Amino acid sequence: MLTNTSHLCSSTIIKKAIVALTGLVMIGFLVVHLLGNLQVFAGAGVTPETTKLNEYALLLKKEPVLLWGARLFLILTAILHVMTTITLTQHNRDARPQHYEVRHSYASYASQMMIFGGLAILFYIVYHILHFTTGTVHADYFTPHDVYQNMIRSFQDPTIVGVYVAAQIALFAHLYHGTVSVFRTLGMNNPRHIFWIKKAGILFALIICGGFISIPVCIYFGMVS
Ligand code: HEM
Repeated sequence: MLTNTSHLCSSTIIKKAIVALTGLVMIGFLVVHLLGNLQVFAGAGVTPETTKLNEYALLLKKEPVLLWGARLFLILTAILHVMTTITLTQHNRDARPQHYEVRHSYASYASQMMIFGGLAILFYIVYHILHFTTGTVHADYFTPHDVYQNMIRSFQDPTIVGVYVAAQIALFAHLYHGTVSVFRTLGMNNPRHIFWIKKAGILFALIICGGFISIPVCIYFGMVS
């Protein structure tokens, strides 16, 4: 019985570590992605080829093997993150028969928010790739190889700006709760530590999501054109 319980415990810890590690890889992508996209604030060059943001986008596509290697790695990381989260949630549900009593606890509320927020982010990523990478949705605003103009045209549209801002708010909640839960998994449950971890989590999520939100909002209000 004891062996069984400790086996379950260690498999849960491994799963939580996988969720945390894959989350960290995706955070790494987000930081690089944000820094790349912030180059929109450098403005338009004389030609599309000399526009800073386009130069950066072209650089990424110069080595197709590297590009597709990185894309594949990210896709596999995201799949592992989602699948492990699903098995962890199922395991947690099976482990507690008294659903009704725990339903309103903070942990249960946060974990439900992580699932719905995660799903919203997943839908957003699909929409986002169809928007800026393939030009399938909002095709009127899309010119291949002119990422700068694609952003400027798209973010004149208040509906698109609204979708992007809403997605970054979902990302904010996911990043914040994710950061706190990673540290809890690492065993940091001391209330004083948790207090500072929460502050750091909010600050980090604010920097990333605030940075992303600044792009559609500044373009919409004509600060970049
Ligand atoms: C306002 C916020 C954002 C802007 C303006 C933005 C902009 C862009 C642009 C322009 C591209 C296409 C790049 C190209 O074709 O060269 C792109 C691709 C992508 N973005 Fe974003 N992005 C934003 C936020 C995000 C967020 C929050 C995520 C993830 C949660 C994300 C994930 C991706 C992915 C996965 C790709 C596809 C990369 C690839 O083609 O391999 N983006 N983004």
